[in-house]
Amino acid sequence: MKIKEIFPGVFRIGDDLFTKNLVPGEKVYGERLVKINGVEYRFWDPFRSKPASAIKKGLKTFPLEEDSNILYLGAATGTTISHFSDIAKNGVIYAVEISEVPYRKLMDLSKKRFNIVPILADARKEKEYSDFIFGKVNVVYCDISQPDEVEIFIRNCEKYLKDDGYGMVAVKSRSIDVVKDPMEIYREAEKKIKAVGYEHLETVKLDPFEKDHAIIVCKKTK
Ligand SMILES: C[S@@+](CC[C@H](N)C(=O)[O-])C[C@H]1O[C@@H](n2cnc3c(N)ncnc32)[C@H](O)[C@@H]1O
Repeated sequence: MKIKEIFPGVFRIGDDLFTKNLVPGEKVYGERLVKINGVEYRFWDPFRSKPASAIKKGLKTFPLEEDSNILYLGAATGTTISHFSDIAKNGVIYAVEISEVPYRKLMDLSKKRFNIVPILADARKEKEYSDFIFGKVNVVYCDISQPDEVEIFIRNCEKYLKDDGYGMVAVKSRSIDVVKDPMEIYREAEKKIKAVGYEHLETVKLDPFEKDHAIIVCKKTK
């Protein structure tokens, strides 16, 4: 089987995306495992995980590296985080989740994947979890489906992102306005991000994997 590393830690086998399994033999959400030359890879499902959808849709900047420290807002049960944990295997993923039910699953995941630090908190109150985050991070990733998501994302970037760090925000247009044209909502989000002086790198629409969603990638340039 032909395998190609298309971003650090992200592999393409045929048409599918995979990450190298940090915990061989263990699945996180029922995903397919494949072994090539003695190394186990986990299928990264673009219908279950937005960064995988974005990569499938031609994302050009995927800023994660082996030693990246990441602040992840809206961790849920850790589906996407498990792949970030495969990729940033020598880094730390600070995983913020507001709801106790998914948080319990996230806690279980962090017992097997030592680079995940689960934090039960509201991403709107970014000052309240500063004791859990050591130093500034390389990447802030935000996926919380809230009407004020972009503002929450920016506040967290201002507080926790390194000066040359990258931000990624998954915008669900219907969470912001159900009737407005999604493109208009993405443009408004880009405007807010540029207004704080960040460089807008790209916006990738996620359909058909996720309807009315886009991922916006930016760089803090201060
Ligand atoms: C779309 S789901 C995230 C899916 C996850 N990112 C993945 O790909 O595996 C959104 C999550 O954000 C959480 N959330 C919503 N508002 C939040 C807030 N203010 N602070 C932290 N988490 C929040 C929800 O409880 C939910 O688990």
